[in-house]
Amino acid sequence: MQAVKKICVVGAGVMGHQIALCAAMAGYEAFCMDKDTAMLDKARKLVEDYLAGRVKKGRMEEEFAGQALARITFTSSLEEGAREADLVIESITEDLELKRQLFAELDRLTPPHAILVTNTSNFVSSKIASATSRPDKVCNLHFFNPPLVVKVVEVVKGPHVSEHTINQVMEISKSMDKIPILIKKEIEGFVVNRIMDAMMDEAAHLYDLGVASYEDIDLAIRHALGQPLGPFRLMDIIGIDLLYRARMNRYRETGNPAYKPSPAVVEKFVRGEWGRKTGKGFYEYQPGNNNGQP
Ligand SMILES: NC(=O)c1ccc[n+]([C@@H]2O[C@H](COP(=O)([O-])OP(=O)(O)OC[C@H]3O[C@@H](n4cnc5c(N)ncnc54)[C@H](O)[C@@H]3O)[C@@H](O)[C@H]2O)c1
Repeated sequence: MQAVKKICVVGAGVMGHQIALCAAMAGYEAFCMDKDTAMLDKARKLVEDYLAGRVKKGRMEEEFAGQALARITFTSSLEEGAREADLVIESITEDLELKRQLFAELDRLTPPHAILVTNTSNFVSSKIASATSRPDKVCNLHFFNPPLVVKVVEVVKGPHVSEHTINQVMEISKSMDKIPILIKKEIEGFVVNRIMDAMMDEAAHLYDLGVASYEDIDLAIRHALGQPLGPFRLMDIIGIDLLYRARMNRYRETGNPAYKPSPAVVEKFVRGEWGRKTGKGFYEYQPGNNNGQP
């Protein structure tokens, strides 16, 4: 098995900069690449602030923080990030065509042994792998937000992916202090989001039927099932616009009416009440109150 030394994360947004930091903290030579230099500046500041905060709270040795920071290179050059990379983690904007273009370029720029993974929440990797000449080395490695906190990652084995690639990605994930879950077949939404979607769907259905208020359903799920957030609060935080669009896309793709968003979600979407980002969803939000609780 090729020793993995250099990991390049492409896309330095909400997810990417934290994934790069996970890699650097695990001892890898990490590259955090973004085409937008303003995003790179922001990412570097977020990484520095995170490490300084951990040190200040006594949760991390100053020396460890300094070494982790020194192991990350922030770059706007894909060539620099991809050159000699053993693993590339793509975490760019959720757009299939953009991702396919990027993977074709990565295929050209990275060494032949390099594994290319995608952090997409929505696309199975066979839709992306065919843009490369190495589909056996392309798979999904799905992190959860925030990647520095959530330990679980999903590793999805499409029909084109080799056992060797899957084993390596599972091992690298463990070395990054993650708990990799192997998804043995390609399926949209993978496992965690499908189960979360099912819970949100049922909650919305019960609310639509007038069985209980959304506040009571959230209370029940939090206290009876030990979830940190109820499904309606979760919808507000994820963004009702995102949920609506994801559902409509899946409905259009499959023609299956079961994927249609629920009337409660449609109503919120049409009113522009998209959750925390618009100040109102099922709940109301004041500026600066983002702790997700009433
Ligand atoms: N946000 C979440 O909660 C979450 C959770 C799990 C997975 N994801 C997935 O992670 C990916 C990134 O999501 P995000 O929320 O971090 O997005 P984001 O919009 O915060 O960041 C995306 C970044 O990609 C950069 N970018 C776009 N095209 C690029 C290119 N060709 N080369 C280099 N950089 C490019 C953009 O400049 C931007 O900084 C998506 O595929 C998304 O589905 C997101």
